Amino acid sequence: MQIKDTVAVVTGGASGLGEATVRHFIAKGGKAAIFDRDEKKGSALAAEFPGQAIFANVDVADEASAQAGIAATMAAFGAIHVCVNCAGIPGQSARTVGKKGPYPLAEFTKVISINLIGTFNVARLAAAEMLKNTPIGDSGERGVVVNTSSLAGLEGQMGQVAYAASKAGVIGLTLPMTRDLSQFGVRVCAIAPGLFATPLVAAAPKEMMEQLVSTLEFPKRAGAPAEFASLVGFIVENAYLNGELIRIDAGTRAPPR
Ligand SMILES: NC(=O)c1ccc[n+]([C@@H]2O[C@H](COP(=O)([O-])OP(=O)(O)OC[C@H]3O[C@@H](n4cnc5c(N)ncnc54)[C@H](O)[C@@H]3O)[C@@H](O)[C@H]2O)c1
Repeated sequence: MQIKDTVAVVTGGASGLGEATVRHFIAKGGKAAIFDRDEKKGSALAAEFPGQAIFANVDVADEASAQAGIAATMAAFGAIHVCVNCAGIPGQSARTVGKKGPYPLAEFTKVISINLIGTFNVARLAAAEMLKNTPIGDSGERGVVVNTSSLAGLEGQMGQVAYAASKAGVIGLTLPMTRDLSQFGVRVCAIAPGLFATPLVAAAPKEMMEQLVSTLEFPKRAGAPAEFASLVGFIVENAYLNGELIRIDAGTRAPPR
């Protein structure tokens, strides 16, 4: 599916990988609905692109909030062709049983709720709108869903139980969602980023960053958000990519710690 003239819902679109995805889609002639809880950054980004972007204050984990965001997107642009799920939180880093006792259950629930349930929540609502689209191109595509997992979903490190479980869940739903939606011409892929230079990662302690960069093969630097966005664009544009998890990680295999 070409990006020009298509409408993308981008969750977490106010920052980092989501923001880069919004910019990529708009640069290619698409339109974007930014779903985020960060009203200030999200509306400032949308204001840069009048007529091409809107901001919706959406909590991805909340059903009514996501429904309102989808309704606002339909009202603004009349269709949804692409859904890119980038909203996510790292959660508290702690071991299953650490110095302060067992990992807090409320924190585990929160991370699963935003990263996994939030991804499914918005994907299913966006897909329901995609089914209304007239099939596009030789393949008769109606839409594309791209979900953001993480290397942690494959090789979770110590202290990452909640985050790793949420991101493994995102990988786990990719194939069944593909199978559910293929009869309608909607494709589903997931991306597992390694280390990317975004505000989420900038908040990590310096020593942790140095340790993380030392585990990279090549290039020995954090990925640029634009490199992630270009992969999202490639997935959207290549109709034969479906049901796939793609790593974008400089060849990294995460060590236990
Ligand atoms: N940066 C990395 O190195 C990296 C690596 C692997 C995976 N990821 C994943 O990529 C995604 C984007 O990460 P990022 O680095 O751009 O982070 P980021 O913090 O820069 O952006 C995340 C955005 O999600 C929004 N958000 C958080 N909770 C939300 C909610 N409940 N509803 C709506 N929006 C919400 C935040 O307001 C923020 O704008 C996340 O899912 C993250 O887990 C990032």
